[in-house]
Amino acid sequence: MTAQALDEIKIGGLGSSRKRVEDDRFIRGKGNYTDDIVLPGMLHMEILRSPLPHARIKSIDTSKAWAVPGVHLVLTGEMMATRNLAWMPTLSYDTQAVLATDKVRFQGQEVACVIADDPYIAKDACELIEVDYEPLPVIVNPWQGLEPGAPVIRDDKEGQAGNVIYNWEVGDKAGTDRAFEQADLISKLELHYPRSHPSPIECCGSVADFNRATQKLTVYMTTQAPHIIRAAVAMVAELPEQMIRIVSPDIGGGFGNKVPVYPGYVCSILASILLERPVKWIEDKTGNLISTGFARDIYLKGEMALRKDGKILGVRMHTDADHGAFFSDAQPSKFKIGLMHSAFAAYDIPAAHLTARGVYTNKAPGGVAYRCSFRVTEAMFFQERMMQAAADDLGIDQAAFRRMNFVRDDDFPHRTPFGFLTDSGQYAKCLDVGLAAIDYEKFREEQAQARKRGRLLGLGISTMTEPLGAGNSREYDILGIKMFDSAELKVHMTGKAILRTGAKTQGQGHETTWAQIVAHELGIPAVDVTVEEGDTDTAPFGMGTYASRSTPVAGAAVAMVARKIRAKARKLAAHLLEVSEEDIEWELGRFYVRSSPERGASIQECAMAAYSNMPDGMEPGLENTAYYDPPNLTWPFAVYIVTVEVDPETGVWDVLRMVAVDDCGVRINPMIVEGQIMGGLTEAYAMSSMQFITFDADGNCVGSNYMDYLLPSAWETPGYELHSEVVTPCPHHPIGAKGIGECAAVGGPAAFVNAVMDALSDSGVRNIDMPVLPDRVWEAITYRRDVSGAPPVRQD
Ligand code: CDP
Repeated sequence: MTAQALDEIKIGGLGSSRKRVEDDRFIRGKGNYTDDIVLPGMLHMEILRSPLPHARIKSIDTSKAWAVPGVHLVLTGEMMATRNLAWMPTLSYDTQAVLATDKVRFQGQEVACVIADDPYIAKDACELIEVDYEPLPVIVNPWQGLEPGAPVIRDDKEGQAGNVIYNWEVGDKAGTDRAFEQADLISKLELHYPRSHPSPIECCGSVADFNRATQKLTVYMTTQAPHIIRAAVAMVAELPEQMIRIVSPDIGGGFGNKVPVYPGYVCSILASILLERPVKWIEDKTGNLISTGFARDIYLKGEMALRKDGKILGVRMHTDADHGAFFSDAQPSKFKIGLMHSAFAAYDIPAAHLTARGVYTNKAPGGVAYRCSFRVTEAMFFQERMMQAAADDLGIDQAAFRRMNFVRDDDFPHRTPFGFLTDSGQYAKCLDVGLAAIDYEKFREEQAQARKRGRLLGLGISTMTEPLGAGNSREYDILGIKMFDSAELKVHMTGKAILRTGAKTQGQGHETTWAQIVAHELGIPAVDVTVEEGDTDTAPFGMGTYASRSTPVAGAAVAMVARKIRAKARKLAAHLLEVSEEDIEWELGRFYVRSSPERGASIQECAMAAYSNMPDGMEPGLENTAYYDPPNLTWPFAVYIVTVEVDPETGVWDVLRMVAVDDCGVRINPMIVEGQIMGGLTEAYAMSSMQFITFDADGNCVGSNYMDYLLPSAWETPGYELHSEVVTPCPHHPIGAKGIGECAAVGGPAAFVNAVMDALSDSGVRNIDMPVLPDRVWEAITYRRDVSGAPPVRQD
């Protein structure tokens, strides 16, 4: 380690595994979550949800609820409509009912709200609301929705004849057709990525506080993107933006679930305005699981054109996405299916074409990103399952097939088959590290030996490269708001500092790592830098935290604002040292005179001078703001390798080993990066082995509680072997970092599934849909057939 690197570690700079500063308050139970906020005169709101997935509302009688002592307000869709708030815009240019007026369109949809002295009175009063429903036929998958004569779910929308939301295509159709004409072999695959839920431990909630005297609306809420919420409230409720303050306090996990605007937020705000009292809404777990932010639920099929030597000539993909009753994905708006077309970015494929169709069904809105950048998880899952199937069809070794088709290190910048520009990576090296770690050749021998004795061992490889860090603003926007981010740094006269960004941590450790970037750029010890996020009255405007965009965008803004501060401090140092600026050099935390290095001024001395001894004509103070618009996305890369043993009698499979090689460029805090990878791998394991929400044929949600929707505990979670030896700095990020938060959740699932499929490779089975439950594996082994997990749940 160099002397400078050692100095950095001492002050908690880049590369230091500094302990997370936020954990001090969390482990003492002193976190400040939305539900911890108690305001004088505060009332409580509960939501009445629809028991039916599709029904016309004939009438709603709220009289009994109003009569309950302690009830202050009962809100219905009809009342919301008088204020033009019965419907709200979604992030995908659709509309979503706030409270149902004409029909309910999914089980669990919000129908009415009661605001009362306490949550128990509000809940009891909800149960006294009488809703007369006329049940309608139910659609639980896209195929039913596409049938001729299928009931039109969104008959509220003018000109909506059927249930198709969009048909979209991207890529080079003619070039792809030509590639398929030249193929020696065409490999095909069809699968379903089940509906899952981010399921943060803290559910959604808000405390709205409208003060009639000051006309100020303050909303404490569980949002990953407070500034977007402020803009949305200003536009939808027609309130002046400067009179709205959104505060996102501590958040108990988001994973994408806390990006959208939910009816509960809107109703609590309106209730507070009407009652002129603070109104708290805290969702219960079932409410969260059945109505908010579902992910995936997508049917994927595709084919690969192959030369017999293993070269991939082209890829065709088609997806049918089940969006539920409202198209409310959070995504850069111009891409109908998010960044799904980032598929195959790591492979050198001349031509590709993707078609996508979105369909309304009688389910809660789906398609929200769950720890992934807008459908990248689905893209990577299909990519790596397809790679395995193609290698098997060709009879080529899994690892060799990937290596032969990788984009090579000297091929960057590389235009992907769907038009993205990737700029850096060492894909083959990552694979080599992974194969050496798992001892690939030896495992293959053991596998062959074991098979002779009836034991089923399998090895699955998955690679992933993910476009992280939207913008740039030229290409990425949400509802027209360009995607960039921001940081504001104020260095006080004693050399201590406060940093605010437009991002919002939900457990990722920004309070720790942002201070490390300041330490790296200015030499101010990280412990002397306080980080604040989430209050729109104080933080600079930003687009929030999702899609692992914090480090690529807000983290870059932190480095850039620190550099602005350093530029001013240099002038102060020249003044203090009585030399010209050109004669000044910089080392970590100190300016010195080039010709006599012993004469210097520390960053702290410069800070004091900014308030007490500045040169004539210089504006006092040492603070600045930077808005950062990245030139490109960052493209981290990873290789995940899993080995498993499958019990042929029961279909139960156990993970033997899991090796992860992640290249996320420069690591700010290696310990936090490892935590992010372990968390992502655990979610990947959950999705592949146990986690899904489905619907029965009548549209009832199966998975509305933690008995049905399984989260792996430490007991089930396998051990992980993490490798950090491959570091390819991002060429355009100021400190060379790429995002990491989502990578393992994105790339991990295919590794687990590929391992199980590899174990069954002698049985002729091509696919078992996730989750790869033991009964599905047993069925595949016993009947030598593929097993689909597509809903509705079979009744047998
Ligand atoms: O946007 P989000 O915070 O979810 O994801 P991220 O930018 O990938 O960062 C997750 C955490 O890992 C943050 O605390 C980052 O500062 C940290 N990180 C790091 O230490 N080094 C990297 N190269 C990337 C992220």
